[in-house]
Amino acid sequence: MDSHSSHLNAANRSRNSQTPSPSHSASASASASVSSSLHKRKLAATTAANAAASEDHAPPSASFPPSSNDDLESISARGADSDSDPEESEDAVVDDDEEDFAPEPDQDSSIRTFTAARLDLSSGANGSSRNTKIKTEISTVKLEAGTGTAGVSSVSGIVPKDESAKISTDDDVQNCGAYIAREEALRREEAANRLKFVCYSNDCVDEHMMCLIGLKNIFARQLPNMPKEYIVRLLMDRKHKSVMVVRPPAGGNGITHVVGGITYRPYHSQRFGEIAFCAITADEQVKGYGTRLMNHLKEHARNVDGLTHFLTYADNNAVGYFVKQGFTKEIYLEKDVWHGFIKDYDGGLLMECKIDPKLPYTNLSKMIRQQRKAIDERIRELSNCQNVYQVAEFQKKEGGSPKKIRVEDIPGLRDAGWTPDQWGHTRYKLFSGSGDSITKQKQLNALIRVLLKTMQDHSDAWPFKEPVDPLDVPDYYEIIKDPIDLKTIGKRVESEQYYVTLDMFVADARRMFNNCRTYNSPDTIYYKCATRLETHFHSKVQAALQSGAKSQ
Ligand code: COA
Repeated sequence: MDSHSSHLNAANRSRNSQTPSPSHSASASASASVSSSLHKRKLAATTAANAAASEDHAPPSASFPPSSNDDLESISARGADSDSDPEESEDAVVDDDEEDFAPEPDQDSSIRTFTAARLDLSSGANGSSRNTKIKTEISTVKLEAGTGTAGVSSVSGIVPKDESAKISTDDDVQNCGAYIAREEALRREEAANRLKFVCYSNDCVDEHMMCLIGLKNIFARQLPNMPKEYIVRLLMDRKHKSVMVVRPPAGGNGITHVVGGITYRPYHSQRFGEIAFCAITADEQVKGYGTRLMNHLKEHARNVDGLTHFLTYADNNAVGYFVKQGFTKEIYLEKDVWHGFIKDYDGGLLMECKIDPKLPYTNLSKMIRQQRKAIDERIRELSNCQNVYQVAEFQKKEGGSPKKIRVEDIPGLRDAGWTPDQWGHTRYKLFSGSGDSITKQKQLNALIRVLLKTMQDHSDAWPFKEPVDPLDVPDYYEIIKDPIDLKTIGKRVESEQYYVTLDMFVADARRMFNNCRTYNSPDTIYYKCATRLETHFHSKVQAALQSGAKSQ
């Protein structure tokens, strides 16, 4: 989270918890190890390589040419110049009180191993006969021929299985919503092995380490306030894991492209995980990767780590994203469970996500489709709304004017339960039951004329008197799809046939006011005119209804 960055500055940080986070104390030691390893690199590179090689997770053999990537350079160069770089000696990213904690053995070794792996890949330490050449280009890691001994393992428990081949086609994608459409498109990519979700940590496997570096580059760019050392420290901390979305090299050789990832630390005993960083590379954002990544993470954390919750400190920019991923600002997890395990920060907003024990996070589209189908079937049992009637015939014109339609001839109306005695039904009960329909229509027309005049004569009516001129307001008709104005309403009133109920007339007036408020902002004179004229209009309608009721 970006929020971390501000907290790394000891002067600006206020800590509520006196208990340091195990994660961060470990990280502090890890950082120190990075620094010391880099120093050692300059003086005794072979010592580092030998030390690493003697560990269980010895670094692989490979050459490691200088990278053009600034992020990698930042580490390599610091390693080379560390004696003269005051930042290195200060270890600027180490928290004040974190320094008090002794390095955890595995942290120390993991970072030392990582450093050695990065700097001494040519030593052939892990015994595998490789001809590996690594180039980093932002988040791209090139593996030339001969790579691949470290098989890419998909996120445990979330490997797209055979069923992914059954991903539904596009036929109904446009009817199923953007979420399903995006998820299914990405599932197809996964099934075709063009996209992969993997979970790696610092285990000294070449390919994993290179992906972690690719991810680190993305974090460094997407979280610019975050010190790179801090990113490396957590990313390479063996207690942290990174779920990544990667593009495997076509044909098994070539470029593994890291698209994004989430680094988190599982607290197994507490059954929650703390998300430290989350980012998608710039040109792939807002394509659904962030959501799919989070879904893979949830499934992995639940199925592999046994977690039930995630916590994260989100900065203001990221809160919206996390909310869409099911995170809440309310923390329902008992404080005892997480307090003291993660740090309290000022500035960042602590958010929580409960991981559902059953939800198929990586195949929600299937579940949503099934639910839609079940609801649809139930609706069909209760109604006939699935029947669609063609009404095109009724729109044909006879001699230039619209063909008159008899209500009872409208297809589907009777099927929907309409009966002829409902003709002229209105929620505005205006007139007594006596009198024929012609008389009632005349009374209605008279009333509508009066109501129209009260609007036309009002001092706030001027914006509504004529249709909006597109020359004056070019985009008006792009935004307002169903325009109406007093002049048009007046023509309809004059026809004496258009408004067969008062509801229809009131609906037109309401649409006129709503259109105005849709196009104009509340502080404009137009918006205010609409509201005032509407209030006036409704008071007149109510008065007419009351006098009509009294006369009955
Ligand atoms: N604020 C509000 N909403 C956001 C958002 C943000 N910063 N980023 C994405 N969203 C929304 C999207 O519009 C989308 O909404 P929709 O489902 O209604 O269409 C939804 O969240 C998911 O979008 P998706 O395409 O799956 O996300 P993404 O691939 O763009 O990844 C981030 C989201 C935040 C990881 C990515 O934008 C990123 O890397 N940002 C920079 C780094 C960062 O801020 N990381 C988070 C803090 S560590």
